[in-house]
Amino acid sequence: MPTYDNGRRVAIVAGVRTPFAKAGTVFKSVSAIELGRRCVSELIQRTNLDGAEVDALVFGTVIPSVLAPNIAREVALQPLLPKAVQAFTVGRACASANQAITDAADQIALGHAGAVIAGGAESLSNVPILYSRGFSDALIAASRAKTLGAKVSAFSRIRPRDLRPLAPAIAEPSTGETMGQSADKMAKINHISREDQDQFALRSHRLAAAGTADGRLAAEIAPLYVPPAYDTVVTSDNGIREQTSYDQLAALKPVFDRAYGTVTAGNSSPLTDGAAAVLLMDEERARVLGYTPLAFIRSYAYAALDPGEQLLQAPVLAAPVALQRAGLTLRDINLIEMHEAFAAQVLSNLLGFESPEWAARAGFTTPLGEVDRAILNVMGGSIALGHPFGATGARILTTLCHELARRDGEFGLLTVCAAGGMGHAMVVERA
Ligand SMILES: CC(C)(COP(=O)(O)OP(=O)(O)OC[C@H]1O[C@@H](n2cnc3c(N)ncnc32)[C@H](O)[C@@H]1OP(=O)(O)O)[C@@H](O)C(=O)NCCC(=O)NCCS
Repeated sequence: MPTYDNGRRVAIVAGVRTPFAKAGTVFKSVSAIELGRRCVSELIQRTNLDGAEVDALVFGTVIPSVLAPNIAREVALQPLLPKAVQAFTVGRACASANQAITDAADQIALGHAGAVIAGGAESLSNVPILYSRGFSDALIAASRAKTLGAKVSAFSRIRPRDLRPLAPAIAEPSTGETMGQSADKMAKINHISREDQDQFALRSHRLAAAGTADGRLAAEIAPLYVPPAYDTVVTSDNGIREQTSYDQLAALKPVFDRAYGTVTAGNSSPLTDGAAAVLLMDEERARVLGYTPLAFIRSYAYAALDPGEQLLQAPVLAAPVALQRAGLTLRDINLIEMHEAFAAQVLSNLLGFESPEWAARAGFTTPLGEVDRAILNVMGGSIALGHPFGATGARILTTLCHELARRDGEFGLLTVCAAGGMGHAMVVERA
């Protein structure tokens, strides 16, 4: 059987996340490191895990702090883990937590580790603001100047335009196109209507609200006391709009292509702060320690396409490869979690699954087929829940495993699109 095994099956033992909060709101004073630490300490406590059992910690982040670029090590340096737990940070845009998970799983499958914590964190409230080239040249020249006159002369070269700060853009370095512009372009190419996008966004909010109200999503969330005063506690995601309606969504103006676009604040995922993590173990180690795994990793795949084409369409190339590696077809899958960067992207990906042309591009003669919407993102997705770039992959895997168990399903599929024209897919199995 062509599964991801190598004699050691990788068990997903548990997963947990912080609440997800829209950037600039309740977590605006909380760093990504703090979000990650809080999430990981909750994971350790909930699983009653002895920190000495952990061999490594792998974390993803997309916009790292320039002062602490290896966020994984900072997250690992916390009271519940020994200082000997080595840790490294990975980046694959919105699939960064997925990269952390597959790197951790590879270490386990190779026999290099028996238990690894993997996940990611992002604080889009705390992105580094950069000085312009002119301003930073002047600062460096001033710091090297030997006399007061030379220092003054260095600063005198600064022009008003140099004072404009630079923030990281959510744009492709290779094309200059923002994610939102790419989503708008995909909607046009694939003929995804504004109405279909808004209906999908509405569905995301409705299902997320239901999953929160009945406790399924709440169970995956670690309440977070907000520093520095620790006198307020956040227990749930604040982007879910229980009361939103189709008419409200339809009334929103397009934000990226204001003249002809269909992508709005309502049918996009919002900029978000949060962290998520999973505990992965060699099946044997999990058994010895007395854990009942939620599920096992059966296969995964990554793919990429030209970012200038359809930036967020690569899950369509990754999913058939992951399924082939799992020895399964779409019909075998009981539950699907698809990252919702934009409704236009999800709907384009779903069309791609049915397309013989996209199947051929992925190297297959027949398309995956139509996804049964009844098993897709059954508790909403990133549009409603939010999307802390580095964390989303671990949120999705956790939800997939829990819900698969609730439904007594056998196989689950997740897909994530990522900047750079990249895509990821993973198949999990319960038995
Ligand atoms: C789309 C985006 C620009 C919107 O940012 P924003 O303007 O700060 O968004 P807001 O939440 O303030 O929403 C704007 C307005 O739409 C309204 N709105 C948003 N979603 C709504 C919904 N579901 N129902 C009703 N109204 C909604 C808000 O209430 C707000 O109205 P107001 O201006 O009257 O207050 C931002 O979320 C973004 O950049 N998202 C994409 C992120 C991205 O590229 N991610 C990468 C994907 S992989």
